Amino acid sequence: MRITTFAEYETAYQKSVEDPESFWAEIAQEFQWRKPWTKTLQWNFTEPNVKWFVGGKLNITENCLDRHLATRGDQPALIWEPNDPSEAGVTLTYRMLHDQVCRMANVLKKNGVVKGDRICIYMPMVPELAIAVLACARIGAVHSVIFGGFSAQSIADRINDAACKLVITADGAYRGNKEIPLKGTVDDALIGCPTVERVIVMTRTRTPVSMLKGRDVWMEQELKHVTADCPAEEMDAEDMLFILYTSGSTGKPKGVVHTCGGYMVYAAYTFQNVFQYDAPLGERAPTERSPVHFCTADIGWITGHSYIVYGPLACGATTLLFEGVPTYPDAGRLWDVVDKHDVNILYTAPTAIRSLMGFGLDPVKDKDLSSLKVLGSVGEPINEEAWHWYDDNIGKNRCPIVDTWWQTENGGILISPLAGITKTKPSFATLPLPGVQPVLVDENGKEIEGNGVSGNLCIKFPWPGILRTTYGDHERCRQTYFATYPGLYFTGDGCLRDEDGYYRITGRVDDVLNVSGHRIGTAEVENAINMHTGVVESAVVGYPHDIKGQGIYAYVITDQQPTDHDAELTKRDILATVTRVIGAIAKPDKIQFVSGLPKTRSGKIMRRILRKIAEGDTSNLGDTSTLLDPAVVEEIKNGAV
Ligand code: WT7
Repeated sequence: MRITTFAEYETAYQKSVEDPESFWAEIAQEFQWRKPWTKTLQWNFTEPNVKWFVGGKLNITENCLDRHLATRGDQPALIWEPNDPSEAGVTLTYRMLHDQVCRMANVLKKNGVVKGDRICIYMPMVPELAIAVLACARIGAVHSVIFGGFSAQSIADRINDAACKLVITADGAYRGNKEIPLKGTVDDALIGCPTVERVIVMTRTRTPVSMLKGRDVWMEQELKHVTADCPAEEMDAEDMLFILYTSGSTGKPKGVVHTCGGYMVYAAYTFQNVFQYDAPLGERAPTERSPVHFCTADIGWITGHSYIVYGPLACGATTLLFEGVPTYPDAGRLWDVVDKHDVNILYTAPTAIRSLMGFGLDPVKDKDLSSLKVLGSVGEPINEEAWHWYDDNIGKNRCPIVDTWWQTENGGILISPLAGITKTKPSFATLPLPGVQPVLVDENGKEIEGNGVSGNLCIKFPWPGILRTTYGDHERCRQTYFATYPGLYFTGDGCLRDEDGYYRITGRVDDVLNVSGHRIGTAEVENAINMHTGVVESAVVGYPHDIKGQGIYAYVITDQQPTDHDAELTKRDILATVTRVIGAIAKPDKIQFVSGLPKTRSGKIMRRILRKIAEGDTSNLGDTSTLLDPAVVEEIKNGAV
């Protein structure tokens, strides 16, 4: 399954286009199936309806755990590095991880969970998080992991959308020098969640928490009464594996649905090829050290699902789970983790690189970093300066950088170099992986052919990891991804294809922001701001931010124009409201009070103008003659913050 030369990539790519079914069938055969599939692919992008490995039966945890026991049972599967470097970490071999996943799965069963139930997971970055995810998959329960930075309201919305029956959480989380109350936040959320019958609470920070009799149980207690014997549930390839919520251009986050068979094949295939993880199944001598893969994402995002948990484990790799943040206890922490565990592959985000660049070279200069072989980047376009800093100071110009472009909806990487195989170019995601057929289209949906062109990025053929639906609302899935350009999956990204046929993602073309690699819908932030007392209306746009990539700029109309003193206080109150409604990640960086917004006669806000002002580029605001009240533009320009 691993491509080792550029010629092999070209052959694989060609085959994947000419005969996608046999291309993917061959790859899927390397996994363990309880029952083979009868049809490799059935699809149309109009309903849409996509099914891979139809009729195939499997359990993803048998592929991620059981099948490695004979060949690499004593090899580290998961290495955990705690937030505090002086605390002892944990290394779980495949055998130990298998054991713990089975025990946790039995705890879930004991608490009434059956196949198909939805389980919400709101946890710190500890081994129990990965174990909880896999325990759900073991018994066919659908996990919905919520990033620990989301508010009680966001948790409640997600729990209710999926009608979750059980929540797995912890008392609190450590993140840098902060202690974050998780159970307290879950308690607030559950006031409005009638479907939740049970909460399983692990202890991490031992913060005092309330434990409601009949609803809340301690994980440690529950684990005492179960065995490690838990046969894996037989799942259909198209049974739901998980839901993961992500923002779009409308107010409400969508529950992206991934299924067992296709997602597994795609996460594993892309992991092994993009990062060139060199542990073909069963070929490693038991005594040989396996390469260590360190993805710095949180498991609460798709990157963590696919490249901390499922992809690496499906390939029998050693995956490193880091609880903390890159700047704690100091800005050399990531490099300390790399040296401590002899990390071979480091996969992180441009925002982290840019923030560490700001600390200069001191935190890097006495680090070894010679274990590194491959560097990865994900989440947003990587600017050339950050790319070179990463290449020069971390990779020491001897590690290929893979700039991986993909989305929550894709399950795995779609456009990326293969490490050491594809010639890289700073700020280019380069070429599509085998099985991925990108097209650029103009506003009318007409395909733009040839090289040296730009357009909106679409994909014209399904790959195994594509989303199947948005939970509880298939029409929304069709509308969002398959209706803009009929017959194509629309990514929402703008893209350039250069003279060499290399792809460079230029950013979202819809009303979605990318703040520190996190996707945030402008409408969502506006809704939150509008919930603040006295706010009449608001408009949110992105602007270039040195570290975050994009910052959030909010124009706010209040019922009474605040005085200067009040304005500062009101701004802080608005931030508190946004934090309460969505979470701190959605807090605007800048707030400007305005008396009106630039609207067309039909009442549409002209965001183009607001974006320009937020960028500080007011020289050419374009045509404002169609505005209802052109004078408001002058006022906004003069008051820009
Ligand atoms: C959006 C998806 C799954 C990756 C983590 C974020 C942007 C992602 C890149 C990249 C340029 C990128 C796109 C995409 N994006 N990776 N390498 N270069 N842009 O997943 O939250 O679903 O966001 O992130 O705009 O549409 P996500």
